[in-house]
Amino acid sequence: MQIGRNDPCWCGSGKKYKSCHLAFDQKIDTFRDGGHIVPPHKIIKTKADIEGIRESGKRNIAILDYVAERIKAGVSTQEIDDWVAEKTKELGAIAAPLNYEGFPKSVCTSINDQVCHGIPSGDDILKEGDIINVDCSTIYNGYISDSSRMFMIGKVDPKAEKLVADVKEAVEVGLREVRPWRFLGDMGSAINEFCKSKGYTVVKEIGGHGCGIEFHEEPWVSYVSKPGTEMLMVPGMCFTIEPMVNAGKSDIYEDADNGWTIYTEDGSLSAQWEVQLVVTEDGYDILSY
Ligand code: MF3
Ligand code: CO
Repeated sequence: MQIGRNDPCWCGSGKKYKSCHLAFDQKIDTFRDGGHIVPPHKIIKTKADIEGIRESGKRNIAILDYVAERIKAGVSTQEIDDWVAEKTKELGAIAAPLNYEGFPKSVCTSINDQVCHGIPSGDDILKEGDIINVDCSTIYNGYISDSSRMFMIGKVDPKAEKLVADVKEAVEVGLREVRPWRFLGDMGSAINEFCKSKGYTVVKEIGGHGCGIEFHEEPWVSYVSKPGTEMLMVPGMCFTIEPMVNAGKSDIYEDADNGWTIYTEDGSLSAQWEVQLVVTEDGYDILSY
């Protein structure tokens, strides 16, 4: 259905379409006509949505800070889950992973050769030299935030330390490519090229995602994509940059027993940092990290 020029804008601003998103939609149409993938209206956040997601993100960051203050050798990943559950509750929020498609815990904890979706357990005790990703997803006032960090336990092998630092830098390299009217593939290829230059491989099968109203929304975000391909980035789009980067080969497998945890096929180390952002008029804003 066509919106009339004088009808209220689809974005909920209350303004007339002609003085709100009409020019924006026309610009998107030129990209669509050029054969590009363009974002549907439903994933473009309003100002109120973005403020809601930002508030959720503040809690998400506080929960990861709480983990950062406590994580050390001798702690089990179940204790990390307990901290996340307790801090989330204290902040009036809800842990998004718990019961998400049957996930049994409040946070994902992925150690060493675990790529992602590690399930906290009292049997998994952190030891000196481990690297671990803690992936925290938070619902506050109906809005979803999602970010993850790496932690190094005590003194770690210099190669592992370098992997952790390089993957953080890879996210920053990707962020530099985020601005409206460019493509997700510009960002994804920048990350892939950077990781290749360091001798690493980027996991292909699992990527990032739109996030904010739902836990996982369109678009699916690849970090091995090509420049000028994938979805057009426009102001108000919210998504995660969360490359999973392996020290060895990119092949992965899923734990057949729990149906969740992903490992590197060759047993090499894997690291991931995750940031959630919104595309703005001239770049991006970080919502959780
Ligand atoms: N937090 C993960 C992400 O970044 C998703 C985890 S799904 C869960 O997309 F169920 F395992 F929590
Ligand atoms: Co995510």
